[in-house]
Amino acid sequence: QLAQPCILVIFGGGGDLSKRKLIPAIYNQSLDGGLPASFALLGLALQEMDDQGYRQFAREGIESFSRQPLDEQHWPDFERLLHYEPGSFTDPQTYQRLKQRLEEIDQTFGIPGNRVFYLAIPPSLIETCVQNLNDAGLVYPVEDAQHFSRVIVEKPIGHDLQSARQVNDVLGRNLDESQIYRIDHYLGKETVQNILAMRFGNTIFEPLWNRKYIEHVQITVAEAEGVGTRAGYYDHAGALRDMVQNHILQLLTLIAMEPPWSMKADVIRDHRQNVLNCLRPITPEIVNQHVVRAQYGPGYHGGFDVPGYRREEGVGPDSTTETYVALKVFIDNWRWAGVPFYIRTGKRMTKRASEIAVHFRGVPPVLFNADPSHPIEQNVLALSIQPNEGLSLRISTKLPGPKVRIFPVKMDFRYGSTFGDQSPEAYERLMLDVMAGDATLFMRRDAVESSWMFIENILDAWNSSGVRWLPEYTAGTWGPVEAERMIENDDFRWRLL
Ligand code: BG6
Repeated sequence: QLAQPCILVIFGGGGDLSKRKLIPAIYNQSLDGGLPASFALLGLALQEMDDQGYRQFAREGIESFSRQPLDEQHWPDFERLLHYEPGSFTDPQTYQRLKQRLEEIDQTFGIPGNRVFYLAIPPSLIETCVQNLNDAGLVYPVEDAQHFSRVIVEKPIGHDLQSARQVNDVLGRNLDESQIYRIDHYLGKETVQNILAMRFGNTIFEPLWNRKYIEHVQITVAEAEGVGTRAGYYDHAGALRDMVQNHILQLLTLIAMEPPWSMKADVIRDHRQNVLNCLRPITPEIVNQHVVRAQYGPGYHGGFDVPGYRREEGVGPDSTTETYVALKVFIDNWRWAGVPFYIRTGKRMTKRASEIAVHFRGVPPVLFNADPSHPIEQNVLALSIQPNEGLSLRISTKLPGPKVRIFPVKMDFRYGSTFGDQSPEAYERLMLDVMAGDATLFMRRDAVESSWMFIENILDAWNSSGVRWLPEYTAGTWGPVEAERMIENDDFRWRLL
């Protein structure tokens, strides 16, 4: 499906996300020829600025954050697509002016009235925004076959199950589910999309993809950065809400889903949903064996001493927000019964490295594997999500020489060396998908709520334990010793990345 002609309206168009991600993404697609033939962008925010000022703002964003450098020859063609309207999101007048501006832009660019509204705004403003859009007649009825209005909603969708339901109710009162695109940028990453290609585009993996042959799975999403300037948000969220509820559970669904019978959005989303439906709840009785949380203490990163989390700007000295979490998760269905999925994510870890590693069971204890004190290493299929995107398979080979000695080697595929380093960024792909009306890589209402249901059990258990301090890990390390113990109790070890 191709991106259809439309105006992209960014609420919060003068903000950080627009500058770093959204505008550079649109710029890259304009260079690569991915934008619809008739297209324009309008930023909407409180700051007083005119179109020219916004073009300068966009230029700075592209110069600093675009994956392709700014091309002076292309710039005049690109900048004429950019427009700006100042206004408050709570003022109905803003929406009247917006409507008029959009009609004028339609005329200039020959756009048939289609709209994509990107809500890059704090969650507290979503309600007033969609309500006002509706009241101003900016949302076409879903039956209107001539035009579309689609709304992209950024995370976080809620803070817990109840607030997520409230957001979804507000969206549902003003829009049809088919007009709502809840973004999870992990689903737009090339390597994440490759999970389905790898599983279902090859013969050799799927027959082994079950409890008979897979011993356990490890999912790591490690970040080297600390909380940075986002303490205002992060200190109320923590790693479980910030990373696991959305990105990591979505990775899990792609690894664990049954083979879908079509690439249609709702077929894929139904299959992902079935995994969420089978997650074993982590109840207060088992929370301490299945979940470890911790906070980074002072340490060393990038050649400098860095402060611990509680000394970061905007964080209170007695904060108990976790910056690291490790979980042991089970999917109670026929395919996965008894196979543990270990998940870990944290800020200020040794390096930025995300991967999914599938550990296969060992060969029988005969021939090469007969000596229990020297077991041969098992096959591991590791999908590296970032930064060295690729896939590697660990296999056993014979070490050259007269003796029969078994040695593990890696078969390696790297995106960079095979396809070059220029994979589109997640936001590029995802915004084009919305323009094309393809919701496959977006979160449906049921997915958001099931994920919260799973997370809320853990949050409830934590709340009832009334903890006053969390285990610490030194900034720049792989996390707390408690997480090592959790996996070692099952006779496994975290992979070295
Ligand atoms: C965001 C989280 O959703 O994802 C951030 O709010 C996190 O805390 C970021 O740093 C990680 O994204 P990426 O693409 O850099 O791995």
